[in-house]
Amino acid sequence: MPAISASAPGKVILFGEHAVVYGQPAIAVPVHAVAAKASISPDITAPKGRIRIQATDIGIDSDLDQLPKDHPLSAAVWATLQALAIHEPPAFRLRINSTIPFGGGLGSGAAVTVAIIRALSAFLGHPLPNDRVSALTFNIEKLHHGTPSGIDNTVISYEKPVFFVKDKPIEMLRPAAQFSLLIADTGMSTPTKITVTDVGKGWQKEPQRYEKLFTEIGAIAQQARSAIEGGNPDQLGPLMNANHELLQQLDVSSAELDALVAAAKAAGAGGAKLSGGGRGGHIIALVTQNKLAAVKAALLAAGGKGLIVTTVKRTT
Ligand code: MEV
Repeated sequence: MPAISASAPGKVILFGEHAVVYGQPAIAVPVHAVAAKASISPDITAPKGRIRIQATDIGIDSDLDQLPKDHPLSAAVWATLQALAIHEPPAFRLRINSTIPFGGGLGSGAAVTVAIIRALSAFLGHPLPNDRVSALTFNIEKLHHGTPSGIDNTVISYEKPVFFVKDKPIEMLRPAAQFSLLIADTGMSTPTKITVTDVGKGWQKEPQRYEKLFTEIGAIAQQARSAIEGGNPDQLGPLMNANHELLQQLDVSSAELDALVAAAKAAGAGGAKLSGGGRGGHIIALVTQNKLAAVKAALLAAGGKGLIVTTVKRTT
């Protein structure tokens, strides 16, 4: 059995985070500038079934059975073995590296899971298709995020822009013109599980107000789809600004996120919003080439970290 490796990109949510958990549409795109990588090599010196997991970035170097079964890394291995009905795997070493900032909302957890499932299923001679990889990753996301919508595992498994509605067939988005986003991290993070739970509490307390906000966010995602598929990405800026305001009203923004959004807009971004779970994590700003340097400088001055430029390519 030869050594095998697989990788998976990061992601950003363009529109619709949080409302997507309540059945509204959302848009997400892969971010190829960062990736998680899983490499598997046979361990011919070890007894059959011995699986070593090495993720030195996060200080893990351990046998599979020494990790809790619901640890995200071991859960991905167990889920793959179970999906392939393999009870006695050969001994192997699994190495994991990632350039996706951990906890920054760029999908690092889902990307690591996707990379492991891809590499391991290929190593065992049965590479799993995207839909199975996505479904298995969704189950592992549930272990750690409570009630995920499924958007993260979908965009990361398919590695394409998606127009996503929970529990509906996946629709790929076909941008008719390319556009670029600047991603800036606040350097702080709140686990997605916490912001999703807090939004849930708010919704239980004030269902009408929250449902109105979710519906407005969903309408923005629909308009954004038309802009992207109609070749008018410049229309996305005002939609991003409006989506950010609605996320503020859902109480998932923060002073740091608002400062980055304001700085990007003042420096000439077409629009900006927080992206992902919020209360930390990152913002995205719509930028044209001639404004890129100014928006970058403004974001750095406002405390933005780990700046990444990602271009969503035309596919029609
Ligand atoms: C997280 O990337 C996006 C959220 O909408 C949660 C989810 O959809 O599972 C906040």
